[in-house]
Amino acid sequence: MSILVTGAAGFIGYHLCKKLLEEKFKVIGLDNLNSYYDQDLKRSRVKELNDFSSKNGLIFNFIKGDIVNKSQIKKIFEDNLKSNTKIKMVINLAAQAGVRYSIENPSAYIQANIVGFSNIIEESKNYEVDHFIYASSSSVYGGNKKLPFNETDQVDNPVSLYAATKKSNELIAHTYSHLFKLPTVGLRFFTVYGPWGRPDMALFKFTNLILNDKSIQVFNYGKMVRDFTYIDDVIESIYLLIKKLIKNKKTYKNTQYQKPYKIFNIGNSKPTNLEDYIKAIELNLNKKAKIVYEDMQPGDVKATYANTDSLVNEINFKPNTSINVGIKKFISWYISYYKKSSN
Ligand SMILES: NC(=O)c1ccc[n+]([C@@H]2O[C@H](COP(=O)([O-])OP(=O)(O)OC[C@H]3O[C@@H](n4cnc5c(N)ncnc54)[C@H](O)[C@@H]3O)[C@@H](O)[C@H]2O)c1
Repeated sequence: MSILVTGAAGFIGYHLCKKLLEEKFKVIGLDNLNSYYDQDLKRSRVKELNDFSSKNGLIFNFIKGDIVNKSQIKKIFEDNLKSNTKIKMVINLAAQAGVRYSIENPSAYIQANIVGFSNIIEESKNYEVDHFIYASSSSVYGGNKKLPFNETDQVDNPVSLYAATKKSNELIAHTYSHLFKLPTVGLRFFTVYGPWGRPDMALFKFTNLILNDKSIQVFNYGKMVRDFTYIDDVIESIYLLIKKLIKNKKTYKNTQYQKPYKIFNIGNSKPTNLEDYIKAIELNLNKKAKIVYEDMQPGDVKATYANTDSLVNEINFKPNTSINVGIKKFISWYISYYKKSSN
């Protein structure tokens, strides 16, 4: 079965492609390798996927391309149809990520997350994929005060453009499910971290700065709470959802009245104080951080906390890796990756 994964050179995309290859899916990976962060890291992820698939006789077809380019997207679906490898599932992870950068460069978000998203869901509908899965975000909960966040909560108060684009994705997906019976699944990820992670996120940034004897900026004077979610738990959740979707395909298609539209929180359901997260990094690096405390950043939220009952009901799996285990694995990857790339 052919699956198109967009954002395949990204942090989550890389791990997901690897898992899908291990499970013997034919994976088409699309990414524009943009320069939002270190392009060498993105290229290294693609190289790992290419090496892994060729070593194990698996099919990974990487395409450097842009979801904003409508004709290029259409061509990918068409080419696969013609060569008898019809794309049956799309997992759209390509996006302009990051809350803070959306204040600096709003158009990057409108392009990738709105125009690009619309292109990819439209062609998924035109080429009649069985399932369309896409990355949403915990940021859609915006300024909500009620914790934990539940999928049924109102999410009409985004506090960043990034959040607004992710909420828009959910609305667009709802329309496609309603009008065209396109089965869609939105995944609200909660602060994902782990090996091959993103250089613009706290764990990567703090590790780099602490190792280089530089100070770290800690916003809202450290009074922040995040539901840090380990990458392997995220990938296992997506994989189990995919398995279930494939199994239930017939039920979906035959359901006349129920909209084939779903949203899941994917979080650890264990909110952690930022200060404790930093302590765990210091412990694993065996080095103290030089901390500069700052005000709350515009667009940021004070706390995130996922209710994962829906996910557990659906797949009988609950993300549960502790930050101590997850941070240790990230740091050992970080040290070996940068040792290798400096040789
Ligand atoms: N990592 C998290 O904590 C987190 C939390 C919530 C939501 N998400 C969402 O999950 C998805 C994956 O996140 P990630 O952490 O792996 O981010 P990432 O930035 O590492 O991956 C996104 C990838 O998409 C690619 N991309 C961006 N615009 C593109 C375009 N127009 N065409 C083709 N490729 C494009 C980038 O080059 C990048 O490799 C994103 O949609 C993100 O918004 C992530």
